Amino acid sequence: MKYATAQETGEKASVTVLPYNGDERILRVRLRNRNIIVELTNIGSAITAIYTPGKNDGLKNIVAGYADLKNYLHNPDYYGVVVGRYANRIAAGHFSINGKEYQVSVNNGSNHLHGGVQGFSHKFWTVTSVKENEQQCSVVFSYNSADGEEGYPGNMSVSVEYQLDDAGRLHIHYSATTDKSTPVNLTNHSYFNLTGFEQPSILDHLLEVNASAYTEKSENDTPTGQILSVTGTALDFRKPGKLSKGVDQFPADMGYDHNFVLDKSEGNDLEKAAVLSEASSGRTVTVYTTKPGMQLYTANFWNGSIIGQQGVAYRQHGGVALETQSFPDSVHHPHFPSTILHPGEQYRTTTIFEFGIIAE
Ligand code: BGC
Repeated sequence: MKYATAQETGEKASVTVLPYNGDERILRVRLRNRNIIVELTNIGSAITAIYTPGKNDGLKNIVAGYADLKNYLHNPDYYGVVVGRYANRIAAGHFSINGKEYQVSVNNGSNHLHGGVQGFSHKFWTVTSVKENEQQCSVVFSYNSADGEEGYPGNMSVSVEYQLDDAGRLHIHYSATTDKSTPVNLTNHSYFNLTGFEQPSILDHLLEVNASAYTEKSENDTPTGQILSVTGTALDFRKPGKLSKGVDQFPADMGYDHNFVLDKSEGNDLEKAAVLSEASSGRTVTVYTTKPGMQLYTANFWNGSIIGQQGVAYRQHGGVALETQSFPDSVHHPHFPSTILHPGEQYRTTTIFEFGIIAE
């Protein structure tokens, strides 16, 4: 594999922040470094577009997004957003910390999903820093979540830095502090289609995942607590495999919607989690993370009713999300890595999306 940025364009790193269509509340942020462009908005601290070159074509936007940034205020599929306070599900939206019971909002059957009714993904964030130099450019979005928001304990200050370096890598640094013990699990919910949505489906994309195990799910879509081997299942992506190989094997989900237990060394080092590639465009995305898990979700409920930024309808299996995360519902499974952040502690996690081209 080689970096997309090996094709020098002479464009140096730059960051711009502009109000959107005269609406001062909504910001349009653009990071450019060599020949990668990342566009973002402060609603949900979302990635709205990522333009990368293919082996034979020019820059194409390889993530799902709305053409009109106002649509991010109502974004039921979570295109590109930062999801929190707790990404994925909490069974019955109920948990206890130090003997105190908490009920957070229930917005997905009987479960709490992606931070609740108005999670971090649907809030206005503030741009608190922009930086650019020869090698990299970056923007920091911050959000203060009040004690009791969606039922969560504690005032939480959260920041997400997006930094684009000169080797085709987008670094996402998450940080948070709280004044009461609270669960926290932050991820980015971008959906990739490496053809730039020229092909309506991602089922021919190849995926490799550095995971020997996954968290088993119960019928209500939350972990049973069992950590099972991927061997002999459609979740074995230790060698690259097409996403088509198992998409029919999970009829209840209508595709993949599973949390991998990443093979990690001791500690929380930044390690390779997955490689997504697509042969006709030659594009690749390699995911590195400090987090213990990754949700694979193949846009199972896209139904063609939304015309995305690329001007095409987003249909079932049109995109694939690789959501680096803590395990779902960790608050109910003491043997899962803890997701409780205590006062005085710093939550810090990093995920990198590295954009490349398949070597000839
Ligand atoms: C979850 C799915 C959910 C989807 C909503 C994914 O992260 O795993 O279960 O339907 O988000 O867009």
